Amino acid sequence: RTTALMAGSVGKDGYRHYMEKELHEHPVVIGQTLQRLIDPATRRVRLPGLPFDLARVPRAVVTACGSAFYAGMIGRYWLERIAQIPVDIDVASEMRYRDPPLTPGGLGLLISQSGETADTLAALRGMRARGQHILSVLNVEQSTIARESDAVLGTVAGPEISVASTKAFTAQLSVLACLSIAVGRARDTLSAEGEEALVGSLLDLPGRAGEIFDLAPAIREMAAVIAGARDVLYLGRGACFPVALEGALKLKEVSYIHAEAYAAGEMKHGPISLIDRTVPVVASVPSGRLFEKTVSNLQEARARGGRLLVFTDTRGAERLRGLAEIVVAVPTVDEFTAPILQTIPVQMLAYEVALLKGTDVDQPRNLAKSVTVE
Ligand code: G6P
Repeated sequence: RTTALMAGSVGKDGYRHYMEKELHEHPVVIGQTLQRLIDPATRRVRLPGLPFDLARVPRAVVTACGSAFYAGMIGRYWLERIAQIPVDIDVASEMRYRDPPLTPGGLGLLISQSGETADTLAALRGMRARGQHILSVLNVEQSTIARESDAVLGTVAGPEISVASTKAFTAQLSVLACLSIAVGRARDTLSAEGEEALVGSLLDLPGRAGEIFDLAPAIREMAAVIAGARDVLYLGRGACFPVALEGALKLKEVSYIHAEAYAAGEMKHGPISLIDRTVPVVASVPSGRLFEKTVSNLQEARARGGRLLVFTDTRGAERLRGLAEIVVAVPTVDEFTAPILQTIPVQMLAYEVALLKGTDVDQPRNLAKSVTVE
């Protein structure tokens, strides 16, 4: 097996599936995408020139479909926290019919791997009609959405062949992280030292992401538990709630096992009634502000007989070992970049389950790579 040094080759490079190959491209893709947006000399974010002033944008409205929508949800947490800007977000199939009142001069932020998704394009046109500046985060930079945007921030993920998106997601997150820093700087909510710290943690990511593949044996143990289940519950809080959503989506897409994701604190308002030994609970719980809160949610699940399969980091691992059946600890990074790292093992888990189930991993039934009809 060879490791793809540049994301962009079209063959499988010795991997069994495109999905496996593309999972292994995460570190390279994150690095390539950041390289475009961070000046190595100053270690500051440098976006390409935009035809509007980020400092004058009163609010942002974000829309996308599928995994790109979950990337947008993580982007919302960052934009709110780092740039203190109000953000509205919805899936494009809803946004296009919502008629939200939008102040002209706001930021319409679209996210799409293909740049061709019909609902996202329709939402874009609606935002434009309401006077929004259209900024798109796209992997295919020669696409319909690109042509209709005021500006494009490219994800440098190379061609993504697997129908289920993997590497495009962390590339989108890399762009959204840099955008949040740029908006924070423009709005004066982020100091130079603050930016330096955030950029430092971004630049650390490709190396840390590369270490995650060493965790494959434990992820395979988790996969063996999940492959025998009919339903799986994914939990996360804060910016790791969308990671749980992404994990559940990926599992449904490639293994055909029913999965649902919940904000961990919301579990007590319903899904806790589902929990018993037959419904594994997968949680993404990096150390940080929300760690203890999420641990208590997991204790509630454990008390009801739930089998806990937990993704954390090396700092959180000790605390979780007594509680969870399997603990996978990725490298500890800043809370800001943690959701990017946490995404990689949940996607790997879905892939490993699909292998055990023997599904058509790269071409799951009923799904299309790019949905150009409504
Ligand atoms: C399809 C794909 C998903 C993708 C979604 C949005 O449903 O199967 O993997 O997330 O479309 O596609 P886009 O190209 O707009 O990111």
